[in-house]
Amino acid sequence: MKLAAVALITTALSLSLPLAGAYRPLAGDAGNRANLTQILALDRPFQTFLRYLNQTNLLEVFQNQAYRTHQGITIFVPADRAFAAVQPSVLAGLKKHQLKNLMMYHALARYYALKEFDGLRRANPVTTFAGGLYTVNVTYEEGGIRVLSRWAEAKIVGTVYGTAAPMAVYEVDRVLLPEAIFRVQPPVDATPTEPSPAASAPDAKGVDATMTPSNKTGGKSSACRTADWSARYAPAVALCAAALVAL
Ligand SMILES: *[C@@H]1O[C@H](CO)[C@@H](O)[C@H](O)[C@H]1NC(C)=O
Ligand SMILES: *[C@@H]1O[C@H](CO)[C@@H](O)[C@H](O)[C@H]1NC(C)=O
Ligand SMILES: *[C@@H]1O[C@H](CO)[C@@H](O)[C@H](O)[C@H]1NC(C)=O
Ligand SMILES: *[C@@H]1O[C@H](CO)[C@@H](O)[C@H](O)[C@H]1NC(C)=O
Repeated sequence: MKLAAVALITTALSLSLPLAGAYRPLAGDAGNRANLTQILALDRPFQTFLRYLNQTNLLEVFQNQAYRTHQGITIFVPADRAFAAVQPSVLAGLKKHQLKNLMMYHALARYYALKEFDGLRRANPVTTFAGGLYTVNVTYEEGGIRVLSRWAEAKIVGTVYGTAAPMAVYEVDRVLLPEAIFRVQPPVDATPTEPSPAASAPDAKGVDATMTPSNKTGGKSSACRTADWSARYAPAVALCAAALVAL
């Protein structure tokens, strides 16, 4: 078991090293500045989040937080299927300022690399970009980082962008639902947390499996087995390796 784990770690590290700086070039990327619109538009599963950001005039606000402050930004982006799990009436019923706060609740006004979440959880509750009452609690356990809101626990399932400051964009599997907006639990369907075999066909990312907390009594060395070694998930791979080291 030990040997198998070590071999896996070595493989993971050697695979992630050459990929670490391999960002996809973004068209119109002036002076190495990432363009959030383009990042989210390129990644098809984030259309809903992009639409709401645009609708609430936050694209520029987020962009400026990244490039016009010294803190940077960390953004938690639920994929379209996470939005689909929230009953349409829930978000449609929000006033414009509430929707704006909800979007800002999905960001922290500082750049955090995945490994920094271990320290961040000691600062719970963590104030989001929406400020004041809009806090989340962060958990960091073997193999998994979660962002907890009052009515939804979201797991970070992958890195969409940002292995270096000032902008990090992480995919989460749930829409965060704060008490400051929702006094009672809004209706939300169960979303699949593991990609179904059908869904993991050609372009599946396999990060869900990477980030799943491993079974304490067995299967440790298989925690990373379905990881997809694509460049943009290099941090997830590294974390997976780190989780194995910790075991
Ligand atoms: C980002 O890209 C979009 C679409 O290409 C463009 O409209 C927008 O002006 C760009 N934003 C910045 C800050 O460069
Ligand atoms: C933002 O909204 C405007 C107005 O509805 C639209 O013209 C534009 O294409 C949208 N941009 C994005 C990136 O969705
Ligand atoms: C965060 O944790 C604190 C302390 O356990 C708790 O009182 C609070 O309700 C939690 N907040 C959320 C959003 O989970
Ligand atoms: C954990 O692994 C053990 C041994 O392989 C297995 O019996 C058990 O069902 C697993 N538990 C879960 C939750 O996967």
